[in-house]
Amino acid sequence: MINAPRGTQDILSAQSKLWSLIEKTAEKVFAQAGFNEIRTPIFEDTNLFLRAVGEASDIVNKEMYTFLDKSERSLTLRPEGTAGVVRAFIENHLEHTGKPIKLWYRGPMFRYERPQTGRYRQFHQIGLEAIGSASPHIDLEVINSGMQLLDSLKLTNLTLYINSLGNKNSRTNYINALQQFLFAIKDKVCDDCKRRMEVNPLRCLDCKVEHDQNLYKQAPKIHEFYDEESKNIFEIIKSGLEKLSIKYHVDENLVRGLDYYDHCVFEIKCDSDVLGAQSTVLGGGRYDKLIEDLGGNPNPAVGFALGLERLALLIGENQLAEEKKTFIISDDSSEALLLAKKLRNELDLNVEFDYENSKFKKQLEKALKRNFDQVIFFLESERQAGTFGLKKLKSNQEFKELDFKRLCELLLE
Ligand code: HAM
Repeated sequence: MINAPRGTQDILSAQSKLWSLIEKTAEKVFAQAGFNEIRTPIFEDTNLFLRAVGEASDIVNKEMYTFLDKSERSLTLRPEGTAGVVRAFIENHLEHTGKPIKLWYRGPMFRYERPQTGRYRQFHQIGLEAIGSASPHIDLEVINSGMQLLDSLKLTNLTLYINSLGNKNSRTNYINALQQFLFAIKDKVCDDCKRRMEVNPLRCLDCKVEHDQNLYKQAPKIHEFYDEESKNIFEIIKSGLEKLSIKYHVDENLVRGLDYYDHCVFEIKCDSDVLGAQSTVLGGGRYDKLIEDLGGNPNPAVGFALGLERLALLIGENQLAEEKKTFIISDDSSEALLLAKKLRNELDLNVEFDYENSKFKKQLEKALKRNFDQVIFFLESERQAGTFGLKKLKSNQEFKELDFKRLCELLLE
């Protein structure tokens, strides 16, 4: 017996319904804010991720599914969606279609991580990217769209954390000061941080080792290094969030795991046991230099992505609205299909029937076992009389000799 690869999972029907609900809600919320859907390839040239996500990041270093194809090209299963969207933006000259370009996407991503609840090797993201504007008001639009989606899905216990990594100037000054601080305590921190302080010192700040975290409390703080521009932009975002009544916490250790960010970064976490250690549902931020770094014209941008599996765990299947299911009991499958087709078309109902011409009792048992709400009796006697029988299984009400119009009324009740 061959099992699914470690860190992947089958999404069976009940989960699938939940995922559809999430995707449909995202479609609606994002369309209302003028975002259009884009679909990009699941694998890309490996260099795209090396350059976009950053060679010093954990994703590039440890987590990419990279392979050579039959022509010896190095390809990588996408670990995230932003790099592909930016590549598509540049390659398809989308900037000429009017800026900002507002796009959203959904689909599988791949990271070779240690699987646990809420963390998989194949997982799914819904994300959006707004490209071509440096206005902090578009950061607010993006954050608001994320909040709006989570609100529409009736999620509670959520907290928005924000930070600003400042512009390149402020960040370079900060990183120098931070590196000096880190080098002075190098022999007291974990091996990962010893490496991080050389290649990407900011990443030390979100180290999960408690002992290291305590040492980093004394580290210089990024806000002390903001220049006027960085300060002003962050102030506009904070006051904008207040105006929108979106509560937030500033977390100066929030640096994100991808290297392309500047200015405002944000994460939404959920305080719920079902996610275990993986409490971050959504993460994103501004990335003003990425498009240029990937060979496009300078175009500032901002976006986020959320994890579909984590959202589904939080919502749970019990929040799904029950669909009304109808079963036709008949002694002629082809007549049953004809009636099912008519009812599906005219009443937009979920209608099933038996394909095997099974005995009446067996069909009734099947309908009960599979939790149908109502059963139509459509046997030869009914067909000859041109009438229908109906039983509402939940209330045990039974109706006989119905004409088609009355049947339809009762089916919808
Ligand atoms: P990220 O923080 O790496 O950001 O991922 C976004 C979300 O994807 C996470 O908050 C989490 O919900 C989900 N996620 C990440 N890894 C896993 C995993 N192994 N298993 C399950 N869920 C996972 C990005 O990917 C950026 N591209 C976001 C962005 C868009 N920034 C700007 N634009």
